[in-house]
Amino acid sequence: MKYGHFDDAAREYVITEPKTPYPWINYLGNHDFFTLISNTSGGYTFYKDAKFRRLTRYRYNNVPIDNGGKYFYIKDGDTIWNPGWKPVKTKLDSYSCRHGMSYTIVRGEKNSISAEALYFVPLHCRGEVQRVRLKNTGSVKKSLKLFSFIEWCLWNAEDDMTNFQRNFSTGEVEVKDSVIFHKTEYKERRNHFAFYSVNTPIKGFDTDREAFIGLYNGFENPDVVSDGKSKNTIAHGWSPVASHYLEIELNPGEEKDLIFVLGYIENEDDKKWESKGVINKEKAYQMISDFDSSEKVDRALAELRSYWDELLSKYVLSSADKKLDRMVNIWNQYQCMVTFNMSRSASYFESGIGRGMGFRDSNQDLIGFVHQVPDRAKERILDIAATQFENGSAYHQYQPLTKRGNDAIGGNFNDDPLWLILSTTAYIKETGDFSILDEMVPFDNDESKAKSHFEHLEASFYHIVNNLGPHNLPLIGRADWNDCLNLNCFSSNPNESFQTTENKKGGTAESVMIAGLFVLYGNEFVTLCEKIGKSDEAKTAQKHINDMIEAINQHGWDGNWFVRAYDFFGKKVGSDENEEGKIFIESQGFCTMAGIGAEDGRAKQALDSVKERLDCEYGIVLNNPAFTKYYIEYGEISTYPAGYKENAGIFCHNNPWIMIGETIIGRGDEAFNYYKKIAPSYLEDISDLHRTEPYVYAQMIAGKDAFKPGEAKNSWLTGTAAWNYYAITQYILGIQPDYDGLVIEPCIPKKWDGFKITRKFRGDTYHITVKNPAHVSKGVKTTELDGNALASNKIPIVEDGREHEVTIVLG
Ligand code: GLC
Ligand code: GLC
Repeated sequence: MKYGHFDDAAREYVITEPKTPYPWINYLGNHDFFTLISNTSGGYTFYKDAKFRRLTRYRYNNVPIDNGGKYFYIKDGDTIWNPGWKPVKTKLDSYSCRHGMSYTIVRGEKNSISAEALYFVPLHCRGEVQRVRLKNTGSVKKSLKLFSFIEWCLWNAEDDMTNFQRNFSTGEVEVKDSVIFHKTEYKERRNHFAFYSVNTPIKGFDTDREAFIGLYNGFENPDVVSDGKSKNTIAHGWSPVASHYLEIELNPGEEKDLIFVLGYIENEDDKKWESKGVINKEKAYQMISDFDSSEKVDRALAELRSYWDELLSKYVLSSADKKLDRMVNIWNQYQCMVTFNMSRSASYFESGIGRGMGFRDSNQDLIGFVHQVPDRAKERILDIAATQFENGSAYHQYQPLTKRGNDAIGGNFNDDPLWLILSTTAYIKETGDFSILDEMVPFDNDESKAKSHFEHLEASFYHIVNNLGPHNLPLIGRADWNDCLNLNCFSSNPNESFQTTENKKGGTAESVMIAGLFVLYGNEFVTLCEKIGKSDEAKTAQKHINDMIEAINQHGWDGNWFVRAYDFFGKKVGSDENEEGKIFIESQGFCTMAGIGAEDGRAKQALDSVKERLDCEYGIVLNNPAFTKYYIEYGEISTYPAGYKENAGIFCHNNPWIMIGETIIGRGDEAFNYYKKIAPSYLEDISDLHRTEPYVYAQMIAGKDAFKPGEAKNSWLTGTAAWNYYAITQYILGIQPDYDGLVIEPCIPKKWDGFKITRKFRGDTYHITVKNPAHVSKGVKTTELDGNALASNKIPIVEDGREHEVTIVLG
């Protein structure tokens, strides 16, 4: 069953049934002020850091689900309802929720009143604007009461949910005219407060939750709304909230707009107060006046739309498949930007209090958005590199607010350093900006240890070379990309973490996946060295890569597929010799992407084994057979029930590695089949099973060994977004930015007649037409640029700022 539909022209997903199989959410905000909002107006807001600067409260895993948000209650006679259905859940005459590019419009209609709430964060604004548009669609005059409602969080989201002995006594607010100010802890160490305003005089207000809702009520039947009037309460401790009370008269056909602003303000230390105990509200009034009319709101929304027009104009596909076009042109790119902004911090599955930014995650995310915001990508790369250690290893995570490595999570995930080569080379290929290599970047955030960014890449490369195990394969450390393959951990205590617990001494477990990763990104390093005239360095590096290929050939091939790893005792993991976990996806992906076995048929054989053993109706599972008991020598992977997460779940992040591997050996039909299995727009019809949003990827879909194969979890913040975008745009559609041109090397299903792409690259716009008259998957027969034949399928960089026509014929 479907719960809505795509509106591609508006770049929106339109939900028409509020009871979606799980809350379907959207993100508002593009720089440092963010909101998560569900299709029934649930969610919350924070400034920069979802843990330390949480503006509004949210309760995860609540009963009922997704309770708490930005609510408008309408009281029309005895009928009380919300435009987004929740929390009152009065049956609406019509309902829709349009999730667009950084805005959401929730609309409900009841008894001839239509109420539309537009929510967005204007560009360059530390606030959320909400416009409520009320219309009388009937033939009699209406007198309505409208109550707004948000619940403040006491800033630190973790403390807010745990430290009640203090929290219940700290809350403070001020109310002035139509503005409610939240100033908890402002008088001491905080220089920030929040406010919630409306652009019209109010009849009343409330700021004390208990008074507004009633101690034994829920959001669905607040006392104040049932009574039809505010109590004008000022919160002292307990739980401060903000609610405005408005009375509205509407003649038949009449429409009225109300504009609410939820804002965040910082004041300098000497400007905190207007008078003793009264906060300085100057900046708040400025923000309020920026959006105090519908014209101003329209203008801000138009600016936001043109910002997205620009971002999404860099790569535009026109194919015969609408579901593909909407993924490539709209939703996959959108998800990549959200992932860039959020990393793994705040979604409906990530609570926003747990994780910092991942070293490996953030580097990989970059391949999904570097073409959209190259400057911010550069800044991100340098921030990440600054947390690296001199020996090339890295903190596994760093904190976005301080940009420092996180001691608590530690390091020694031995794949981490190599991803820096991927992100940096992707950045240079997109922009041509080699100067990033000369930037002076600290190690371990210590300026006195700064070296050039190129030396950071060198350190990354040699961290692998300097940490080889008994088979000359890379030592795995705590884990590689698979956080749950903890081969040196041996944990028997349920109270300790697999990722941070002291590893058993003398661990020499090795990873074939890192070996493949090293060959792939090591080759990128060699090419980069050659490009910048370091040919000796390139030669030396090449020798190390050749040795690694040799080691993989000797110890990494199992007969029908690539081995996954060697454990602490030197026994194979991911081999036919094993009883469970005979084959794993990661080493098949990275070895085939690196071209290992491409010439002698082993790459094809490995991918055939993937098809035979790992593929299923809903995607490619991570390993097979699934582990059915705990293997202390493997760690967390074997703690998950069979078919979930890293234990034979469809971990969507790694499926594109196989898609790309398939394109390397020229099998476009297989590659695209895998693509369609997990791309959300193709799963819209099975939303009841899939459950998460049909417009964004989830991290994991339950695999074939699970209780409910096909059921997804953990949508939005996942490396899946970037990797699928990379696979479809660069390897299946085949438009690859390179240092000195745009390489066009599609690998598509044979039955396709072709497709068109507009790609903005280094200041020029290329209109690329790919034709497939011979119905092949791969192989470029002719290439034309502006009517002239080219000798190769690399379009040189013209750099004249103009539009160019490119025609490619496959055959
Ligand atoms: C999660 C982590 C990522 C890891 C993956 C596999 O997505 O964020 O770092 O590689 O799980 O364990
Ligand atoms: C990754 C994995 C998850 C694991 C976690 C440990 O996010 O996806 O399964 O539990 O890392 O930190």
